[in-house]
Amino acid sequence: MPNLKHHIFVCCSFRGNGNAQGICNKAGAVSLLPYLEEELADRGMHDVQVSSTGCLKVCDRGPAMVVYPEKWWYAGIRGQDDIDTILDALEEGTQSAEFAM
Ligand code: FES
Repeated sequence: MPNLKHHIFVCCSFRGNGNAQGICNKAGAVSLLPYLEEELADRGMHDVQVSSTGCLKVCDRGPAMVVYPEKWWYAGIRGQDDIDTILDALEEGTQSAEFAM
């Protein structure tokens, strides 16, 4: 495991049996993962890891993700522009206010 600066957990609504059935999945959270990975690579942010997760228990505000170790929670992430906004802030070492919970 490399020395990570950040670890981003993206809710993909996976349940214990492996099925993805929750709100974040239905709202397209899984489709955000490839773009997030590509954008991190394009920005040279190789010390940031992305993991998909089960329900983060904030379904009414999803799609949701959280950045560790800062514990920066984000909600209502709908597309690539939203990811760009969040990563712009992360590059600056701050939390994006636009999607912060
Ligand atoms: S399904 Fe994403 S927070 Fe619950």
